Amino acid sequence: MLETIKARRSIHTFQEKEVDLEVLKEIFTYGSYAPTHYMNEPWKIKLYQGSGKGVLIDAIIHSYQRIGMIKNNLEPKTTKMIESMKKFLHAIPHHAVIYFEKEDDPIRYEEEYAAVCAFIQNSQLAAWEYGVGMLWTITPYMHDPKFYTEIGLDTDLVKIAAVMQIGYPKKVPPSKGRVSIEEKMEIINK
Ligand SMILES: Cc1cc2nc3c(=O)[nH]c(=O)nc-3n(C[C@H](O)[C@H](O)[C@H](O)COP(=O)(O)O)c2cc1C
Repeated sequence: MLETIKARRSIHTFQEKEVDLEVLKEIFTYGSYAPTHYMNEPWKIKLYQGSGKGVLIDAIIHSYQRIGMIKNNLEPKTTKMIESMKKFLHAIPHHAVIYFEKEDDPIRYEEEYAAVCAFIQNSQLAAWEYGVGMLWTITPYMHDPKFYTEIGLDTDLVKIAAVMQIGYPKKVPPSKGRVSIEEKMEIINK
């Protein structure tokens, strides 16, 4: 496990092969042993795979068009860009939208978000032990209310914490290492 913490990498390119659903369930089960205040277990998952990916990918494209990252016209250049973005996203075997119910109290909201982040990292580490790679993404469409509606969520009620890209790695990037922990530490002992 200690080795996994250091060896895990964010994966950007995936093999075509799907991860077995039972394996994904085990991975997220390990994820759910994350600490959670009041035992709320706030994480929720929408898992898109196979032909189900189309709904998510269309919603992503529509959102990019609303935000202005992609033009909304029928010009060949735009069509080509949309097609290549769709191809890229369809090549990712699984997309998991990780979300949680919003809390009005800002302290409770932070607690729930923190627990969901712990869930995500537990899942990433468990996945690595199964040879499965993930990419934790936070993107502009996660802040677009109409994107929520298109995938059946209500931005008044829930917050998307991340969209995870999941699959067997095609390429594992080299480690970027980390700065010495001493640079981050202040020891107060009197
Ligand atoms: C909250 C969060 C959001 C991230 N969002 C993205 C993202 O949108 N795109 C991306 O390529 N990587 C994203 N990453 C992954 C980081 O870029 C990656 O963890 C970092 O480069 C270190 O690489 P490693 O995970 O392989 O050690 C995100 C990571 C975190 C924790």
